[in-house]
Amino acid sequence: MHPIVEKVKLSEKACLLKIKAEHISRAMPGQFVMLQHRETSEPVPLSILEVSEGYFTCFVKGVGKSTLELIEEAENLFYVAGPLGKPFPLGHYRKVAFYTHSWGIAPALNVAKALKAQGKELLLFHTSEDFYLQEEAGRVFDEVIHDGELRALHVDLVASAGSNRLSKRLTSIYSQKPVISMVNTHMLDAVGLCLVCRVLVEGKQRLACTDGPWFEAHLVDWANLIERESAYEEQEKLALEEYRKALRRKSLKA
Ligand SMILES: Cc1cc2nc3c(=O)[nH]c(=O)nc-3n(C[C@H](O)[C@H](O)[C@H](O)COP(=O)(O)OP(=O)(O)OC[C@H]3O[C@@H](n4cnc5c(N)ncnc54)[C@H](O)[C@@H]3O)c2cc1C
Ligand code: FES
Repeated sequence: MHPIVEKVKLSEKACLLKIKAEHISRAMPGQFVMLQHRETSEPVPLSILEVSEGYFTCFVKGVGKSTLELIEEAENLFYVAGPLGKPFPLGHYRKVAFYTHSWGIAPALNVAKALKAQGKELLLFHTSEDFYLQEEAGRVFDEVIHDGELRALHVDLVASAGSNRLSKRLTSIYSQKPVISMVNTHMLDAVGLCLVCRVLVEGKQRLACTDGPWFEAHLVDWANLIERESAYEEQEKLALEEYRKALRRKSLKA
């Protein structure tokens, strides 16, 4: 059991969780964890926002049953696996632009802090209406743009997180520049066995959990990933409806 030592609600649908878990302290920039609330809950991949001695913090945006369960109910976690995935390739770039959508701000901040420590110039282009952790972004990035209309910036490296559609669009906007993107896939075991997180990179099957989650975006088959996003839509809708009903019953009893 891993206690959640602090839960900061940022809205009805988003929160920060500070979790006691010694083994995550060694995480590198851009890695993620799998969190499981109860033994019967689905494991959820979440980016590591920050680590401190014996603890780490992550940001949760509620989109379905498992993320809402973490926001609404979790006080302890049955299981915390990680740190997982390959770290972000920091490289020798001078000026970096991070494009983010929704929860993509969390991995972007985590990586940006490491890039800032190397003296890089950092721009943030946040594209979705929900813009959490704005103040922190203002402290870490040299310039912050919040706009739904994508445009190109003069930088050496482009990075993106939070949306496969966004990453796909960036490959056309920046056809001549390196773009490193976090692929967004469903995940189950996160150790390379279930193949749920498979991604086609240069026509070859790769796994987001062990080979990723960061890939050179021009090499990724985004259309395939986007098509598979809705593979479990019906089951996810049903799970969310059932969960909302259970929450209502619980509040009536209280
Ligand atoms: C490497 C990685 C890092 C992530 N980091 C964060 C983070 O820091 N904070 C955060 O809030 N979220 C993060 N996510 C996304 C988060 O894992 C999903 O939102 C979560 O698993 C959804 O579970 P759910 O049961 O709440 O929703 P579900 O019921 O599973 O899904 C609800 C809706 O979201 C879509 N969806 C769910 N998961 C994904 C997915 N991974 N890719 C594309 N569409 C999906 C479904 O198709 C459905 O429309 C990350 C995902 C990955 C792969
Ligand atoms: S989550 Fe199962 S192989 Fe990646």
